[in-house]
Amino acid sequence: MSYFSVLLFVLVLCNKPLNSIADDAISTGDTLRASQTITSKYGRFRMGFFAPGKSQNYYISIWYAQVSETTIVWVANRDKPITASELSNSELKLLENGNLVLYNPSRTSIWSTNSASSTSNTTEAVLGDNGNLVLRDKSKPSVVIWQSFDFPTDTWLPGAKIGINKKTRETKLLTSWRNQEDPAKGIFSLDIDPTGINQYIIKWNKSEAYWTSGEWNEQTKTFSLVPEMRFNYIYNFSYISNEDESYFNYTIYNNSILSRFVMDVSGQMKQFTWSNTTQKWNMFASEPKQLCDVYGICGAFGICNQDTSKCECLSGFIERFPSDWNLRDSTGGCHRDAYLQCGSNNVFSPIPTSKLPDYSQSGHVNSAEKCKSACQSTCSCNAYAFGNTGCQLWQEDMLNTKQKSDQSDDRPGNLYLKLAEGK
Ligand SMILES: *[C@@H]1O[C@H](CO)[C@@H](O)[C@H](O)[C@H]1NC(C)=O
Ligand SMILES: *[C@@H]1O[C@H](CO)[C@@H](O)[C@H](O)[C@H]1NC(C)=O
Ligand SMILES: *[C@@H]1O[C@H](CO)[C@@H](O)[C@H](O)[C@H]1NC(C)=O
Ligand SMILES: *[C@@H]1O[C@H](CO)[C@@H](O)[C@H](O)[C@H]1NC(C)=O
Ligand SMILES: *[C@@H]1O[C@H](CO)[C@@H](O)[C@H](O)[C@H]1NC(C)=O
Ligand SMILES: *[C@@H]1O[C@H](CO)[C@@H](O)[C@H](O)[C@H]1NC(C)=O
Repeated sequence: MSYFSVLLFVLVLCNKPLNSIADDAISTGDTLRASQTITSKYGRFRMGFFAPGKSQNYYISIWYAQVSETTIVWVANRDKPITASELSNSELKLLENGNLVLYNPSRTSIWSTNSASSTSNTTEAVLGDNGNLVLRDKSKPSVVIWQSFDFPTDTWLPGAKIGINKKTRETKLLTSWRNQEDPAKGIFSLDIDPTGINQYIIKWNKSEAYWTSGEWNEQTKTFSLVPEMRFNYIYNFSYISNEDESYFNYTIYNNSILSRFVMDVSGQMKQFTWSNTTQKWNMFASEPKQLCDVYGICGAFGICNQDTSKCECLSGFIERFPSDWNLRDSTGGCHRDAYLQCGSNNVFSPIPTSKLPDYSQSGHVNSAEKCKSACQSTCSCNAYAFGNTGCQLWQEDMLNTKQKSDQSDDRPGNLYLKLAEGK
């Protein structure tokens, strides 16, 4: 070997295993540290430590390598970040037992693949060009030991499944980020219907279902409540149901098109394709179509403006967690600017609404005046309304109030909000 080839050899060895664009895998015993990444074979996806936006928290993440607008598709340690000060002494390591483990500087395992331990030490973690991180044995590459596609965060990529294992009842579902800069589990999720109906459901706090796709029709390849899917020329959807599992998956007809579904912080499922021309994600569809149709989107004592599709606080209320509101998470809602004194003179402020808040109680009185005094004399009463349905009183958190400028058709009347005098 010449001096140069020896030097080159040494350089290559020193560089091993990572930092090089060609490396798409972590092998047994190897570690990935901050500033190191692996990139899928044809360069579509990259994985490494990443801090979203202005966040000082770092996450093992997978993102598109060729997209100018940084777009995360998967996060390993979504609920347990590595802080900025821990970053330089943290590492992702592929152990001899075949598991990937994220260690913080005190060698505590922050996150792990926790799959069955392997006896051979020839496991590798390979990042595929479909965005899937796969643990497999080098000698049996077709056998998947563990894959990130089985643990989706908020993004559904072509080739991944969203569904349910009928034996274990385990579901593969999407859960929104908490806010734009925090990938921790948020309050919105997209799931396959656990009762066995072949449809999707979007839920608030895993309980309130506020959107469903309607049943899948195998002939038309559409969901009954999403008829516009007929005009789709990008995605090839399938629904598979057998003894073991039922799930949806999809492929892209033209593989050079980058496309993703996201359970967004807004509580809407959004479908995007990347445009090389504008260098932006084009939104193809969102469900529900209106932000104001997302359950609890403005939180308690918030009001959703249907003209602007924005959340606001009811007058006399202020944002409970203003920093979250700035990061597009308004679900924390609002609280009173000035607290009510029970028994003292409060005033009622009329709020025009297009939809009154949920969960009212009947006041059992037959005039607006009596309805007002019923609210006035009940300390816990926050608001009343008197209309066609009689007297309604609100004593709890007021959720899902809506407002729009043209309320002529379906105007349910004014909401009278109890406020401290002078407010
Ligand atoms: C693991 O790797 C080491 C060195 O690379 C080798 O000596 C050993 O035999 C391997 N063990 C197994 C169980 O494959
Ligand atoms: C969500 O549900 C959990 C338990 O099911 C409950 O403890 C929690 O208060 C709920 N969150 C909100 C914001 O209501
Ligand atoms: C759509 O996907 C299914 C299942 O993979 C396949 O059989 C079918 O040929 C695909 N359709 C088109 C038009 O590519
Ligand atoms: C869905 O997954 C099944 C099984 O993995 C596969 O046969 C089928 O081609 C996939 N269909 C699409 C549209 O990706
Ligand atoms: C896929 O899309 C690209 C870019 O729009 C286009 O150039 C190419 O011809 C398409 N391929 C097929 C098979 O339609
Ligand atoms: C967009 O650009 C990438 C990278 O230059 C290229 O690989 C891809 O085929 C292009 N996609 C389309 C749809 O033109």
